[in-house]
Amino acid sequence: MTPEVVDVRILVTGGTGRLGSALVARLLEAGEDVRVLSRRAAGSPAVFRGDLRTGRGVDTAVAGTDVIVHCATDFRRETALARTLVEAARWAGAPHLVYVSIVGVDRVPLGYYQAKHETEQLLATSGLPCTIQRATQFHGLVRALLAPALRLPVVPVPRMSFQPVDVRDVARRLADLALGEPAGRAPDFGGPEILTAAELAEAVGDVSGRRRRIVPVAVPGETFRAYAAGGHLAPRHRDGVITFREYLAEH
Ligand SMILES: NC(=O)c1ccc[n+]([C@@H]2O[C@H](COP(=O)([O-])OP(=O)(O)OC[C@H]3O[C@@H](n4cnc5c(N)ncnc54)[C@H](OP(=O)(O)O)[C@@H]3O)[C@@H](O)[C@H]2O)c1
Repeated sequence: MTPEVVDVRILVTGGTGRLGSALVARLLEAGEDVRVLSRRAAGSPAVFRGDLRTGRGVDTAVAGTDVIVHCATDFRRETALARTLVEAARWAGAPHLVYVSIVGVDRVPLGYYQAKHETEQLLATSGLPCTIQRATQFHGLVRALLAPALRLPVVPVPRMSFQPVDVRDVARRLADLALGEPAGRAPDFGGPEILTAAELAEAVGDVSGRRRRIVPVAVPGETFRAYAAGGHLAPRHRDGVITFREYLAEH
C-alpha cells in the first residue's frame, strides 16, 4: 500500500523580507503549501495580514499550520514579537516553530544580538516543538555596510572579517528544517568564505568601478573586540555555496 502523502502547511513570518522571500520562493518551487504573514495589505490569498507587535491578525494566520518559520524581525522588539507568535502557536495546536538567529548572539554584546539570544531561550523553554537556526551575515547586509564608505577617496574599514552568506543558501537549509522533525539548536550555517572587511570592500569597489585605497582600522569598544575576535563567524560551517563576488555580480 502506498503511504498517504500529507501536505505540510507552512507559515513564513517575514515572508516579504530578504531571507523570508527567498524561503517562500524555494518552498513554492518545491510545491509546498505556504502562507506569509505581513503587516502590508494582502495582495494574494496566501498573504495573511497581521502584526506581531499588536497581535492583530496573527491567530488567523497561524490557525491550521503545521510549521511556522519565523523570519520576521524588529530591532527594538525582537523578543516581544516572538512572544506573540508563541502564544498564538500554543492556541493553534503547537506547530513546529523554526526561528532564525545569528551566529554569535551569545558572544557579541550588541543589544539586538542579546534580544535574539533571549528569544532563542524563550522558544527553547516554550514547550513548543522548535528548531533554532543561527546564520552568519547575509551578503546584502555586508555590502550595505561597506558600500557607503567607497564614496570616500580613502576607505576606512573595520579590522575584522565576515563570513557572508547568500539568503538562497540559508533558505535551502530552512526549507529542509521546516519539512523535518524539530531539531532544537541546529548546527550553525555559514557562508563559503571568511574574508577581511578590506577584501570585501575591494570586491564591492571592483563591481562599482570605484577602486580606492582601503585602510583597515581598529574600532574601540567591547562589541568591536568581540567581532574582531571572530565571535560572529562559523569557520567549521562553510555551508553556503554562493560567494560574495558571485552575489555582487548578480546585483
Ligand atoms: N541580515 C543578516 O545579515 C542576518 C544574518 C543572520 C540572521 N538574520 C536573521 O534573519 C531573519 C530575517 O532577516 P532579514 O534581513 O531577511 O529581515 P528583513 O529583510 O529586514 O525583513 C523583516 C521582515 O519582518 C517583518 N516584520 C517586521 N515587523 C513585523 C511585525 N510587527 N509583524 C509582522 N511582521 C513583521 C517584515 O514584514 P512586513 O514589512 O511585510 O510586515 C519583513 O518581512 C532575522 O531574524 C535576522 O535576525 C539576519
